[in-house]
Amino acid sequence: MTTPPPRLVFVKTFGCQMNTYDTGKMLALLAHDGFQATDDWRAAELVIVNTCSVREKPQRKVRSFLGPILHRKRDKGRPMVAIAGCVAQHDGAMLFRQLPDVDLVFGPDGVPRVRALVEAATRRRVLDTQFLEVADYPFVQELAPPGPHRITALVTIQKGCDNHCTYCIVPSTRGPAVDRPMAEVLAEVKGLAQRGVRDITLIGQNVNAYGIHAPRHPGFPDLLRAVHAIPEVLRLRFTTSHPRDLGDESVRCWADLPRLASHLHLPVQAGSDRVLRRMGRQYTRAHYLSRVENLRRARPDIAITTDFIVGFPGETRQDFQQTISLLQELRLDASFSFKYSPRPDTAAARLHALEPVDPADASARLTELQAIQARIQFEQNQARVGRVLEVLPERPSRNDPSHLMGRSSCFRAVNFPGDDSMIGHMVRVRITQAHPHSLRGELAD
Ligand code: 5AD
Ligand code: SF4
Repeated sequence: MTTPPPRLVFVKTFGCQMNTYDTGKMLALLAHDGFQATDDWRAAELVIVNTCSVREKPQRKVRSFLGPILHRKRDKGRPMVAIAGCVAQHDGAMLFRQLPDVDLVFGPDGVPRVRALVEAATRRRVLDTQFLEVADYPFVQELAPPGPHRITALVTIQKGCDNHCTYCIVPSTRGPAVDRPMAEVLAEVKGLAQRGVRDITLIGQNVNAYGIHAPRHPGFPDLLRAVHAIPEVLRLRFTTSHPRDLGDESVRCWADLPRLASHLHLPVQAGSDRVLRRMGRQYTRAHYLSRVENLRRARPDIAITTDFIVGFPGETRQDFQQTISLLQELRLDASFSFKYSPRPDTAAARLHALEPVDPADASARLTELQAIQARIQFEQNQARVGRVLEVLPERPSRNDPSHLMGRSSCFRAVNFPGDDSMIGHMVRVRITQAHPHSLRGELAD
């Protein structure tokens, strides 16, 4: 008996780790219908564009990416085209109307139902942006298909977000927060570990709020300890943390759990209390500073990375100066900084209409902040020369196949001479050279 040829699906993923994770889950589910991933959209029977609406720029990319695909669709009648993710959730009805060659539009809550949605779209066009019932949210248990050299994996612990940061569109694209049951999280981690995954990142919009509303539900520190107890997990991280909800119990985990990575991404967004208040962040600069101090006390070598938004509506030069002084005071290991982008139906977009920051000022502030961050980051990298770091090799280095690329516990990319047999095994690397965004070294033992 001959097996039928695989059906090919191409997925383009924009945006954050949630979307990367959702893409893996869609591929796992579609595999039941004979679909296999391809990286050539022209060969695909089905193209899914998993979209991001966090800022205007990624949102704009969606239409330009779709252009040639829809052109081909008009010419040849295929492939089936689906728009998924956050843009689909927010603008689904409009896209459905404006792009008649798109067959299927669905939001993040459509991911668990992707097989049925694709099947239905073979018969008629489908628009599905309903949020699922909060109780019993069907987190997908199938493991995402492994990629090449996959020793790292993301595991979701919650969906949605209950915060009301005034600039952010996510609560309206991903719906209210739902915690994934701990048993499901542990089952997924164990399944991945059996497959050789060694580096786990727990993901959610606000992971420290895990279990916060249910007194008998395990809290985030309980979950962290339970995952850490799985011996194959050589390294554990999580993202994203909200400074308000990062409690002492979580901070203590860095003192107690040796395989918890010496790294935390803790978005601060701004250094001025006035701006933080207007952003609805519900913490002050002093609170953020005290969190960083506690973290450094619990794990002295911890690398802390952050996000900044510059040019938030009404941000003055003095406000911005506060952001710069915070950066200089804390000397964080890396930061991702963005120019404020007004998002539809958010409170900050209404502030923006009244008190916009001049775009040229916002650009200049971004450049200034990024230049200072780049200098700090390079200095932090240089300070590591001569030290021995524990590195988990992930894959051959892109520039030189006789080298491996791995991550240090402090999340630095480290390149060093080594062979494939080391992938997935912790090694000690002496750092010999610092670059702006990576380190170079040689095996220490
Ligand atoms: N404009 C600019 N940056 C934003 N972010 C979220 N929403 C906006 C917006 N409207 C940034 C925040 C967040 C990161 C993922 O994206 O810094 O932490
Ligand atoms: Fe983009 Fe936010 Fe949606 Fe992630 S959750 S894909 S960052 S809009």
